[in-house]
Amino acid sequence: MQRMAIDKTPEWQALLAHHRSLRETRMSDLFAADPSRAQKFTVRCGDIRLDYSKNRITGETMTLLRQLAQVADVKGWTGKFFRGDRINTSEDRPALHTALRQRTGTVAVDGKDVIAEIAAVRQRLYAFAGAVRDGTWTVHTGTRITDVVHIGIGGSDLGPRMVVEALRPSTAPIRVRFASSLDDAELAAALEQLVPASTLFIVASKSFTTPETLANARLAKQWLLTALKEEALVKGHFVALTSKPEEAKKFGVEAANIYPMWDWVGGRYSLWSSIGLPIALALGPEAFDRLLDGAAAMDAHFRETPFEANLPVTLGLLSVWYANFFGAETQVLLPYDWRLRLLPTWLQQVAMESNGKSVDRDGKPVSTATAPVVWGGSGNDGQHAYFQALHQGTHLVPADFLVALSGGANRAALLANCFAQSEALMGGRDAIAAGGPHKAMPGNRPSNTIIFPQLDAKTLGSLLALYEHKTFVEGCIWGINSFDQWGVELGKVLAARIEPELKAGAGTGGAHDASTAALIGAYRGKS
Ligand code: F6P
Repeated sequence: MQRMAIDKTPEWQALLAHHRSLRETRMSDLFAADPSRAQKFTVRCGDIRLDYSKNRITGETMTLLRQLAQVADVKGWTGKFFRGDRINTSEDRPALHTALRQRTGTVAVDGKDVIAEIAAVRQRLYAFAGAVRDGTWTVHTGTRITDVVHIGIGGSDLGPRMVVEALRPSTAPIRVRFASSLDDAELAAALEQLVPASTLFIVASKSFTTPETLANARLAKQWLLTALKEEALVKGHFVALTSKPEEAKKFGVEAANIYPMWDWVGGRYSLWSSIGLPIALALGPEAFDRLLDGAAAMDAHFRETPFEANLPVTLGLLSVWYANFFGAETQVLLPYDWRLRLLPTWLQQVAMESNGKSVDRDGKPVSTATAPVVWGGSGNDGQHAYFQALHQGTHLVPADFLVALSGGANRAALLANCFAQSEALMGGRDAIAAGGPHKAMPGNRPSNTIIFPQLDAKTLGSLLALYEHKTFVEGCIWGINSFDQWGVELGKVLAARIEPELKAGAGTGGAHDASTAALIGAYRGKS
């Protein structure tokens, strides 16, 4: 059945009219008029509390946005998503990262239950991680592992790296480092002071064809070979995480050291799969279980909670409100927890690779803006860098503040800064009180604040699933397939063409525009 473009629906038109009537309204007036505003616009999932009262909304805005979610059939698509329907139509696959955190029941892919299969792989993975951690797993020389270097890129790097950085204990039996870039400076830094005999390399690649990952894996092999001398010894130092085990074997990884993942797990959603091995190694299998528990709790909340009290639906709808009605082109994620500093980088891939699309599920051009640019970093550090533009710049940048209520010596000061920033963004300061136009703060700048008792594995699991599902909700509203990523392909094809041209002595094999040809020439000219 032909779907009506979302912006042609009466629900969208009603929001347009509502926006016109509300756009000049000041949040400070809305707070003054309604003493219960903060309570009214706060929703919870377990210990996680989302206060979205500092947004340019009224009760009517939320009602109209929820009606938009109804007409976009967010509920129906959520059912299809969790059930394992092939909602990734351009790749003819389900998107089933939620099955990875589901411990009971069944989910069928091609008539086969995957829950039992997931449990079996995870059991192997946990046994391996446990044995590496307690020293009973050794390489062929009988040496135990002290250090792990995880090689992967994109979804095979960002999720595990972010979780390990967020929860890394001060002492651990195994040190885990990461290398993703084709620039070998990163791998060289990761290898600094490591002893080849006790170093394990994880090669994480769903496709096992990604040039960056394979180039780093080859360098790692060379590094080991230089020290260990024998190929036979080098092999035992590699573990592969992939949906293409045959390719990993060709690279020289022993069959017993290959942990599978499935093509129905998208790369950017894969930290819950075997790709999360560095998490189990650095933090222990129990912590990995808690991470899964947290995500499962958010999955259940997302599926079962009415839109009014649903965190991912609320965040997704607010995102659409600003992107499509206020024309906000970016969103900033501001964790007030240094350990979460990589969260925005992880979300960048999740949100922008998922929803950075210009055609809908049927391949027709979309008629609304999609995927705002996601950026951010440690909020407290940002205060001394880009917050100036958030407060006085000309762009509207909706912000998400995230902070744990406990942890560390300076927590009260950290919380004070976090709460002060959202208050200042909202309230602003007029020119007279400020003492001149340069010191005036326009205010009326929207933000969400997400608070939780402490940053632990379970909470982090819930937060990650929250943002995954927020992204899904946005994709439903925009009518796009959030699970493919064809836009990354052309650059890879062109790089594969240009590389031999750079290495060749003269002449270019391919036809290039004048700029690219000159850049290639500049490289050749330097040698
Ligand atoms: O090029 C983009 C991408 O395909 C991402 O979607 C993916 O997470 C990343 O590359 C790494 O892919 P792989 O796990 O197959 O090496």
